[in-house]
Amino acid sequence: HKLELELESIEKGGFEHFMLKEIFEQPKSVKDSMRGRISAEKGQIMLGGLREYLDKLTQAQRIIILGCGTSWHAGLVAEYIFEEYARIPVEVEYASEFRYRNPVINPEDIVIAISQSGETADTLAAIELAKSKGAVIFGVCNVVGASIPRATHAGAYTHAGPEIGVASTKAFTAQVTVLSMMAIVAAKSRGTISDKVYRELLTAFEDIPVKIQQALNSNAQIKYIADIFKDARNFLYLGRGYNFPVALEGALKLKEISYIHAEGYPAAEMKHGPIALIDEEMPVVFIATKDSSYEKIVSNIQEVRARKGRVIAVVTEGDQLIKQMAEFVIEIPATHEALTPILAVIPLQLLSYYIAVMRGCNVDQPRNLAKSVTVE
Ligand code: G6P
Repeated sequence: HKLELELESIEKGGFEHFMLKEIFEQPKSVKDSMRGRISAEKGQIMLGGLREYLDKLTQAQRIIILGCGTSWHAGLVAEYIFEEYARIPVEVEYASEFRYRNPVINPEDIVIAISQSGETADTLAAIELAKSKGAVIFGVCNVVGASIPRATHAGAYTHAGPEIGVASTKAFTAQVTVLSMMAIVAAKSRGTISDKVYRELLTAFEDIPVKIQQALNSNAQIKYIADIFKDARNFLYLGRGYNFPVALEGALKLKEISYIHAEGYPAAEMKHGPIALIDEEMPVVFIATKDSSYEKIVSNIQEVRARKGRVIAVVTEGDQLIKQMAEFVIEIPATHEALTPILAVIPLQLLSYYIAVMRGCNVDQPRNLAKSVTVE
């Protein structure tokens, strides 16, 4: 038993939990997900596993993205980037709903199935259904050789390395990285992206690992914030555009490991319901980076402040305006808007981690949850 414990502590590489180790591994895991696939200097993105089916992707009439849990959130981020740059209509579906709905699937559709484990039963069944209707299936998986990658026609592994913590962290950032690369590959081959933006994005990809490292520097401050809010009974997470899925993912992380009820919402939808919940006890986490929805998010923050909600805002480095409005701000480096989710999710992972630890929860193996759900 002692030996087992020692082995485990070696595997955790000096971190108290696998989850924390995996959060801190992200500069490396995201780099690994891009390794050999991208060169800003040459102006190239190459996803070897897609090559044979690149024409199909280029000509796709529609992309259907399938996943569950955190993988579904990565799919939502991908929807924004595929539509913006590749101009292909995208639908993101919970695999469990899709498979039982008698969905409309055509042979010109591309399905992208996202799964860390590659074993999720609902996702696998949804793939089989789409395949039987003639769609081409791409996989974005982490575990090499798992059932889902074996069931797909083509795909790109995320190469994030083994993820042990039940709450997905580094797999998510790797999924978003790979899906974003896929979208830019499609955009380039469809001619829907300008050379300038293409080059800017490639450089932004290459700079991302260093920026993740910088985002991790807020660790101590996030721990401090966690201590203040650890006894909250509810949390609201709000974001817009590319950061709307990040709000969902931040809320999911908190629910999964700290058992605090949390909801993620697109910030503009707040007025259609969640605003009724806001009082002096409600922590509201805003993802409020300097991007195309900045001004609108600022007004949403004002609306929460006016109702005495307690605002924690993830902002772009150097932001002065929100610093004056929010009770706490957490800075992340500036990047290309489309890649913001990869940075913005980092502080939310840390926040949920510290709150869970402070509440005495088993962060690596939260109650009732499994790392991979191989039954319905
Ligand atoms: C479980 C895990 C989640 C994961 C989801 C989908 O619920 O606890 O962390 O996001 O399954 O798993 P997959 O392996 O398909 O990405």
